[in-house]
Amino acid sequence: MSDGAGKPPVVIVPEQTNITSGTAVQEKLINAARVFSDLLKPTFGPKGLDKMLYKSDGTTAVTNDGAKIVAELLVKHPAAKMMVSMANSQEENCGDGVTTTMLLCGSLLQEGNNLLKKGLHPLTLVEGFRKSLEIAKKQINADSIKLDDSKLLSVAETALTGKGTEGALDLFSSIIVESLTAISETQETPRAENIAMFKSNLGNIHDSRIIYGVAFRRRVLMDSLPNRLSNVRVAVISGDIKIRKMNRNAEIQITSANQLEAFVDAEQERKNHLSQSLINSGASLVLCGGEIDRDILHNLAENNILAIGELDSSEIHNSSSSTGAKIVDSIVDIGSKDLGFCDSVIWERNEASDMVEDIIRIDGCKKPGLVTIEVGGAGEIVTEEIIRGLHDGLRAVSLAMEDKEVIPGGGVIYSRIAHAVRISSESEPGRARLAMEAFSRAMETIPGTLVENSGNDALDSILELRTATRNQEKFVGIDEDGKVSVIDSAWHPQTIITESLQLACETAIGMLRIDQVISSRGD
Ligand SMILES: Nc1ncnc2c1ncn2[C@@H]1O[C@H](COP(=O)(O)OP(=O)(O)OP(=O)(O)O)[C@@H](O)[C@H]1O
Ligand SMILES: [Mg+2]
Repeated sequence: MSDGAGKPPVVIVPEQTNITSGTAVQEKLINAARVFSDLLKPTFGPKGLDKMLYKSDGTTAVTNDGAKIVAELLVKHPAAKMMVSMANSQEENCGDGVTTTMLLCGSLLQEGNNLLKKGLHPLTLVEGFRKSLEIAKKQINADSIKLDDSKLLSVAETALTGKGTEGALDLFSSIIVESLTAISETQETPRAENIAMFKSNLGNIHDSRIIYGVAFRRRVLMDSLPNRLSNVRVAVISGDIKIRKMNRNAEIQITSANQLEAFVDAEQERKNHLSQSLINSGASLVLCGGEIDRDILHNLAENNILAIGELDSSEIHNSSSSTGAKIVDSIVDIGSKDLGFCDSVIWERNEASDMVEDIIRIDGCKKPGLVTIEVGGAGEIVTEEIIRGLHDGLRAVSLAMEDKEVIPGGGVIYSRIAHAVRISSESEPGRARLAMEAFSRAMETIPGTLVENSGNDALDSILELRTATRNQEKFVGIDEDGKVSVIDSAWHPQTIITESLQLACETAIGMLRIDQVISSRGD
């Protein structure tokens, strides 16, 4: 820039910097954001398709899960990064509803951009969107329905839909509800983090079940160890079960055979002492985070005690949570008060497979702080997707138990919000009315996409839905087959809907308020 008096221009940014201003800014940001929501669009809803993700390290995933797809994309564009961080927030806060959030944000941006291009001031747009968001929240509260047992199962089913569990939807939804109910005895609000997953790699998905305890894979060190125990008292030890090695280098001179014998005897004596303290504690299962001495293992086996070593810290922690055992550092002073309890322990070796590890199942824990869902089926890619679906379901059901209120799915709530905002906009005197109308249209993306993905015509269905929403008290939305109908089997926890809408709205507003893009990369 020059002041015309022959002075050199004032340079505040490097030469290759590209500055974009005006409506071109939104064009730029929105195009990037739209690529994202368009990418996720076909995966949405009960008729959503899957994506195959093939990573640079050669691993493959087939998924319908918005959070997984977003997590695997190496995003560079700053606008797309805002979308990624929004998706991550939704995943962290709620575990489900990521695709909904992306679609809502994409469509709010699109609608907002159309108005900016027509000359609406960004702050008027923001004002209209904020007013609409308040109306939407009121509508969500008004449409909240009290939770009951059958709705809890529907919440699980709705979250699982499309995640590879279609063949066993009833089984998985009851597994989700039962596993959270099992830990609700020890926790006021049962959390999905207290449900562990175990891939059995056996049978098929119908063999999936709850283990009221934990399961893991380890090679059982001696075949003579008991492989079927009942009414089991459990000791959980974090360190090794062996006599301590000396830290210092010491040389012991032995001058006679008697001395050697005495030395070996003393060592054996110490091992016996350790074995005895475990035997005396009354434990018949010993779980250990470190190594187990061979001689001690023999002593335990002779007393019908099963000992499993080399467990990692999460397995030790999970075993303690489910059985109620205290994690003990030193076995010398272990007592019966430190032990936990379970009904049965079974370990099995699959002789047909070349796996060197056995499956150990600790089941029937009383008032467990943690339970495990065992997922059957041999296909790695399929079970991974089922586990992602189960996570969505667990988070959704846990939130529903906390909220104690649910919201209808199938796009019902978005159609009702669209209607409420449209009605309110009619009494809005200023230009913010345009923004409210835009918000209202953006909400209809959700039912619209559900229709599109089922192969029907979105335009006709949206008009039909608008009429039905205007005329009926009942919850009308888009059913599994993409038809406009009363929805009574798809439910979401209130938190997921509110968080998703709030997040989508704030992210869109954040982008629409940007008036210049200054790119030092020159793009
Ligand atoms: N049985 C059903 N009938 C009608 N709509 C359903 C049914 N099951 C699920 N839906 C709808 O499908 C949508 C959820 O689809 P999907 O799970 O693909 O996306 P998401 O939950 O937003 O994102 P993600 O699960 O990837 O985090 C919700 O709007 C939900 O109400
Ligand atoms: Mg979902």
